[in-house]
Amino acid sequence: MKRTWWKEAVIYQIYPRSFMDSNGDGIGDLKGITAKLDYLKELGIDVIWLSPVYQSPNDDNGYDISDYQAIMEEFGTMEDFDEMLSEAHARGIKIVMDLVVNHTSDEHRWFVESRKAEDTPYRDYYIWREGKEGNQPPNNWGSCFGGSAWKYDEQRQMYYLHLFSPKQPDLNWDNPKVRQEVFDMMTWWCEKGIDGFRMDVISMISKTKDMPDGKVNGLYGDFGPYCVHGPHVHDYLKEMNEKVLSRYDIMTVGETSGVTVEEAKKYAGEDSHELNMVFQFEHVDGHGKYGKWNDERMPLSKLKEIMSKWQTELYGKAWNSLFWDNHDQPRVVSRFGNDSPEYRERSAKMLATCLHMMQGTPYIYQGEELGMTNYPFETMADFRDIESVNAYKEWCESGRVSHEEFWPCLCLISRDNARTPVQWNDTENAGFTTGTPWIKVNPNYKEINAAAEVKNPASVFCYYQKLIALRKQYPVIVYGKYTLLLPEDENLFVYTRELEEDKLLVVCNFSSAEQAFSVPEEFADAECLISNTEEREYEGTVALKPYEAFVLLR
Ligand code: GLC
Ligand code: CA
Repeated sequence: MKRTWWKEAVIYQIYPRSFMDSNGDGIGDLKGITAKLDYLKELGIDVIWLSPVYQSPNDDNGYDISDYQAIMEEFGTMEDFDEMLSEAHARGIKIVMDLVVNHTSDEHRWFVESRKAEDTPYRDYYIWREGKEGNQPPNNWGSCFGGSAWKYDEQRQMYYLHLFSPKQPDLNWDNPKVRQEVFDMMTWWCEKGIDGFRMDVISMISKTKDMPDGKVNGLYGDFGPYCVHGPHVHDYLKEMNEKVLSRYDIMTVGETSGVTVEEAKKYAGEDSHELNMVFQFEHVDGHGKYGKWNDERMPLSKLKEIMSKWQTELYGKAWNSLFWDNHDQPRVVSRFGNDSPEYRERSAKMLATCLHMMQGTPYIYQGEELGMTNYPFETMADFRDIESVNAYKEWCESGRVSHEEFWPCLCLISRDNARTPVQWNDTENAGFTTGTPWIKVNPNYKEINAAAEVKNPASVFCYYQKLIALRKQYPVIVYGKYTLLLPEDENLFVYTRELEEDKLLVVCNFSSAEQAFSVPEEFADAECLISNTEEREYEGTVALKPYEAFVLLR
């Protein structure tokens, strides 16, 4: 297996809107990020993945881009960006940009031209089709954010495809001019000195030529088999690699929802010349009661089976990302841990241990290092996310599911859980803004905030700091071979990692009850690298406390 810097790095994701507001307008911004670089340096991360900061009408908070080479006004200016980049570099921190090129905003110049009635050079930049008889969309596909995936355009008198919102028309990657535009734009950013790309829904860029109805699940047909890992996706990524990526020392990660192990080896194989790593969601996929919406926990045995499959089957062949949280996921301590005052900190540390001792590049989502929790939503007015708002309309207001039934699912899974402002201190609005925040601050900021945690050695923050430092110290954590123990156990997640002479034992109690565990003989004299409770003797049968985790090295 090749050793590379991006396999050894720890990444921190910033969702700029909710990170830090520098000018009191209630919206996080670039100057806010620059002001907090020392905090990130102290945490010890190597790379920032910056969610989109480009010009955007914000239908989907920046994932709808109207100009790839301009900065969103609310976030600042290109000078602010350059300053942030050079200040990050001065601290040895790299910046990876979010590349959203499956679609643009409908306000992008290309789409404005493309939808014109008369012939223009941009005619085939998007995916246009005639409707079916009786003013019906070309097929039955539903969009990810609800409703049909097609919108009729009065001007052009045709339908265009949007796998997300109608303000996010899908680009036509089969058009070589589109690909060249994207590659030129990427080159422009690379020349600026950025350090890589996180590629938004990159697995969806190639669509099948004929577009038949999909299998109906709920109200609409599933576009998946025709648009995800489509016929030319690997050709286009190889072309992108040849024309752009291979020319720079950058890292790339592809958001590849629904990817199989076999496909992942193509996207991120050691020698596949596409991307460095995949970012896949099998361990957090809802398969819920109502589409992705769910209020049930995945059984631990299932979670272990999924995570272990990725650990063992990619070993030596391809590279994966490790994450619990991102801007599209609820807070992990609420989802897989226990966010009660009694167990919040310990379970947050346990989850971090479980993930950070695995193989793959770890991603920390802003606030995760503080053990931030889900938000206690009270009414629909608390939500900002287009997906959550639309889902409530589609499932509840339509009368398909009762409010009582749907509400807990929405509250548990909503993306807005991740988007409440970072809790910096215990002053008003958690120190995020001096104005009115664009989305409510979690009321628990008086107890949970960075200022308190940074100076408390027993905090979740200091525990993350230690996990990051361990990864840098012990190659076995990055490169060791993974073996799952006790696969059937519904309370304990236990595995080993092995590299040459070194062997790690990772033991995590996912339950709120004490659990007995027999430490394998071979770890009798091992050293404890980290533990989320008081360290003690780890020999024979130990009684694990609720949510206890420890790591032994021999
Ligand atoms: C990705 C992003 C998500 C966005 C969607 C459309 O899944 O992570 O936030 O809404 O793509 O761009
Ligand atoms: Ca601001």
